[in-house]
Amino acid sequence: MMQHAAITGWGMAVPERVLTNADLERMVDTSDEWILSRTGIRERRVVGPRDTTTSLSVAAARQALETAGLTADDLDLIVVATCTPDQFLVSEACLVQGELGGNAAAFDLGAACAGFVYALSTATQFIRSGVYQRVLVIGADTLTRFVDYSDRSTCILFGDGAGAVILEASDEPRGMLSTVLGADGAGYKHLYIPGWGAFVPESAGIFPEYRPYLQMNGREVFRFAVTAMGDAAVESVSKAGLEFDDIDMLIPHQANLRIIDAAARRLNLPMEKVWVNLDRYGNTSAASIPIALVEAQLAGKLSEGANIVFVAFGGGLAWAASVVRWGVAGVSRLARKTDDTRVVAAAAAS
Ligand code: UT7
Repeated sequence: MMQHAAITGWGMAVPERVLTNADLERMVDTSDEWILSRTGIRERRVVGPRDTTTSLSVAAARQALETAGLTADDLDLIVVATCTPDQFLVSEACLVQGELGGNAAAFDLGAACAGFVYALSTATQFIRSGVYQRVLVIGADTLTRFVDYSDRSTCILFGDGAGAVILEASDEPRGMLSTVLGADGAGYKHLYIPGWGAFVPESAGIFPEYRPYLQMNGREVFRFAVTAMGDAAVESVSKAGLEFDDIDMLIPHQANLRIIDAAARRLNLPMEKVWVNLDRYGNTSAASIPIALVEAQLAGKLSEGANIVFVAFGGGLAWAASVVRWGVAGVSRLARKTDDTRVVAAAAAS
């Protein structure tokens, strides 16, 4: 029988430190009114000295394991979507595993803000093919470490955080029903961090204090995002064999309220069916969709069998969309190493 990859656990973590629009007014030439009307953001969470991509990822992962009723020893694979790993050698996934324990396969995946949906797609293939049974997928970024707080066009946008889900094999159509992935590498300079990697620009050599900063052409990214998000979302619904009316919730990448509005309009969805939290977190890159997912679940918006659209865009330029069916139906308790009754009880109730 064809295996599906149900989401059986979820968790999120954000730093404690809050950076409000009023704080930014004191740092650069901007205003709360401009930021709110152009983006929808009121405040964002920003890493403090002790927060790292790893610490946020581990906190989110522990919650996800807890809700799934699993331990790290039960995992077959850990995939971390991030463009801000704490180190390049070793992978963020290995750093996370070092804290969680276990010996699952572990690797990182880079698709910037679209990374979580890319990683979920990748992990789903491992389960569908029967290779693995239980996978931890994390979307985590600490982009504020690369934000130039004298550049008003970028510093207002970003926040930090991590979100995690557990995927488990299911006999029922749960988890990803469709996947749309794409990229346009010709546009990479519209959103990138020059010098953050093995290649360091020659000019950096003259400045010993050289620090890479995120650079963005906001208007180009905006134009790209409106088209890419809308097209990918629409395609994901038709690939899943569904109509717009079948969609219960849109969980978009949280970058700009105007971009989210445009995507919702393309799917003909009222804003009550769209989860928006960028007012509180800003753009947390690969973490934005799993954080929004956890909040929507905690708010009681997702019931067994609900059809959710995930859609994201970002640096690459890359985009990704997917229809995900919520719930744990068809997840077998017998397949688990850890004996847990919660999933079984939830499945029986559905
Ligand atoms: O995950 C992907 C991450 N990236 C994105 O999502 C970015 C997508 N793009 C955007 O969200 C929008 O393009 C921005 C929010 C970045 C900018 O909004 P916009 O409506 O496209 O503004 P703009 O860049 O066209 O700039 C309009 C004006 C400019 O002034 P002039 O040239 O008209 O005099 C900017 O200098 O607004 C000015 N401006 C600001 N003013 C106050 C730019 N940033 C600010 C600011 N405060 N923070």
